[in-house]
Amino acid sequence: MPEPEVNVYSNLEEASRAAAQRFELLARQNVATKGLFAAALSGGTTPRRLFELLAEPERAIPWDHTHLFQVDERCVPPTDPQSNYRMIRETLLSRAPIPEANFHRITAEMPARNEAARRYSEEMARILKSNRGEFPRLDLILLGMGPDGHTASLFPGSPALGERKLWVVENFSERLKSWRITLTLPVLNAAAQIIFLVAGDDKADTLRRVLEGSGGEAPLPARLVLPADGGVAWAVDAAAAKLLKSRSRQAS
Ligand code: 6PG
Repeated sequence: MPEPEVNVYSNLEEASRAAAQRFELLARQNVATKGLFAAALSGGTTPRRLFELLAEPERAIPWDHTHLFQVDERCVPPTDPQSNYRMIRETLLSRAPIPEANFHRITAEMPARNEAARRYSEEMARILKSNRGEFPRLDLILLGMGPDGHTASLFPGSPALGERKLWVVENFSERLKSWRITLTLPVLNAAAQIIFLVAGDDKADTLRRVLEGSGGEAPLPARLVLPADGGVAWAVDAAAAKLLKSRSRQAS
């Protein structure tokens, strides 16, 4: 398992540009070699700029052969300001020529959350041709990290963190007092490439604990993302990286 790569940029704009370039490169490489690129996108606020950059017309992303999934979704209607889908639609889907059938939405507004999770797993299996018993391998998963160390909707201490069989589960956040539907840790760890995009000094101490943490404490969820046969790259801004001892700097 290779060590995570940590790249520090002067601000979120530069980190987003680097992540967009990597997305574009991976999309082109995967489509050239296997005819399909499958990526999962996080919600929250940090990736907004990255998604806008991906939608720029000069990018050579083969959208017709790119399938986009959601990493997680809040259990609200798709029109709600809290909806991750709504954010992805506003910043990317409404701006880039992405075929409607190539975006796969988590229908987290369904009252039967388990059923929404099951349907979403089936949708992933249909596109990624994964069999029961094996985890789907996404080419790229774009993740964020909350100040409490959660990633996707896998919160510290939450039962979903222990899921070893299912691909997608419902999960309740005690801190946020809200339900989410999320990809599970085995799916994150089956990916070919993970990119974490993290910005802001409110995340500096957590980032230090995730990347350089002492052995004493229970590992935070973001620290558990280590694909056995894949890479992890952190694209972080200087504010989030300010407490890291070791880091590689990108000229920006
Ligand atoms: C969500 C996410 C979540 C997010 C982090 C960071 O629905 O909230 O997908 O895992 O990536 O909470 O969120 P920010 O980018 O808003 O800080």
